[in-house]
This record gives sequence, C-alpha cells and structure tokens, in this order.
Amino acid sequence: MNYLNADEISFRNRDIFEIKHVPELFYNRESQMKDIAFALKPGLHGAGPLNTILRGIPGTGKTTAVRRIFAEVQVAPAANKNNQGKALEFYTEILGFVKKADITAGNYRWLTVVSPEDQDGTQLVLEPNGNPAAKAYQEALFRQGIPAASFFVDDIRKEYELLKNRGVKFTMEPTKLPGTPATIAVLDDTCGNLIQITQLQT
Ligand SMILES: Nc1ncnc2c1ncn2[C@@H]1O[C@H](COP(=O)(O)OP(=O)(O)OP(=O)(O)O)[C@@H](O)[C@H]1O
Ligand SMILES: [Mg+2]
Repeated sequence: MNYLNADEISFRNRDIFEIKHVPELFYNRESQMKDIAFALKPGLHGAGPLNTILRGIPGTGKTTAVRRIFAEVQVAPAANKNNQGKALEFYTEILGFVKKADITAGNYRWLTVVSPEDQDGTQLVLEPNGNPAAKAYQEALFRQGIPAASFFVDDIRKEYELLKNRGVKFTMEPTKLPGTPATIAVLDDTCGNLIQITQLQT
C-alpha cells in the first residue's frame, strides 16, 4: 500500500538533493577553501598544483568545496575576453582602426578591425593567445624585436607624432633603412606585439 503518491511529496526544492547541486551559501569553509586555492595556485602559473587530500565526515562539504573552487577556475576564458576588449580599445581608439566583425560563440570571440579608408578591405583579427603555442610564438617574436604585423603609411613622421601624442610607446623611432626605399618605426601594441609602420619613398 502506498502512503503517499509521487505527486503528493512536499519538497519545496528537490534539486538540492541532486548529486550535482552546489549550495549558494557555503558555511564555515573559508579556511578550507583558502587551503585548496593555495594548493591550486602553482597550476595557474604553468606549474603542477599541489596534491591535496580532503578528509572529513560525510556530507560536510568536501565535494562542494572542490566544485566551488573549480567554478572559479572556469573564469579564465573571460580574461581572454578582457584582453580582446583591451586590444580593441588600443586598435580603434589609439591606432584609428574601425571595428568590423564582433561575433561571440561561447568563450570564443571573433573580432576584427579594418582601415577606416577601406572598410571592405583586409581585416585584422584580434585573437586571444589562449593556445600555448601561439603564446610562445608571440613572446619569442617580441623578445627578438620582430614585428607581428606591418602597416604602410603615407607620412611616417606625421603618424609617429600623432601616435606619440596619444601615449603610444615606440621601440624604434622613424628610421631610414639604408639602401632601401623604406623608413620604418616600431611600436608596442600593449597586447604583447610589436607593430611596424612603414613609409616607402616614391
Ligand atoms: N558547509 C556547508 N554549507 C552549506 N551546505 C553544505 C555544507 N557542507 C555540506 N553542505 C550541503 O551538504 C551536501 C553534501 O555536501 P558534499 O557532497 O560537499 O559533502 P562531502 O563532504 O563531499 O560528503 P561525502 O563524504 O559524502 O562525499 C551539499 O550538497 C551541500 O548542500
Ligand atoms: Mg563528496
């Protein structure tokens, strides 16, 4: 004989009995959370996190503590978004490009800028360097002083003065390359790249 039917059970919120449930309020676990975060820190800097054993009587929040910490670790891709936001600001407000495509799919953002004079022309992609290989390549180029991109300008002196007034840091002032028709200058794009501007003498 059934005492209660399935639709007669009076839970206000059945979800909190789900194995996946993570409580919104987590009491008295501040110091344990700090310990777990401390053990994880080396992992955030490319080293191995510390091995950790969580001990305690059943149902006192061991699994919950780990879930909550890893929910924070998931925030990382958002940092990429911010970097792209920062790149967009520099490439539009300082360098004078115009935003073209801005499509977000999950954590990925396809972001491009174009020259204001040729808005249907070549697009420059502002990509996050989330891929470790891309990051290593970017850092090596930067260290070796090799520009990641080069843009032609009509009047390098004028552009140099304009950008300098906007606070742009140049690693090379306009310099005539002997034996060539090129005068070049190199600037730091504040996103980890060197950018060359080039004027060709006609
Ligand atoms: N400190 C706490 N504050 C709020 N809720 C808690 C706390 N500790 C446990 N709970 C609640 O109890 C439930 C069981 O917790 P959890 O699964 O994290 O325990 P556990 O220590 O991993 O247990 P077990 O040893 O059985 O694996 C959680 O879903 C959560 O709702
Ligand atoms: Mg558990």
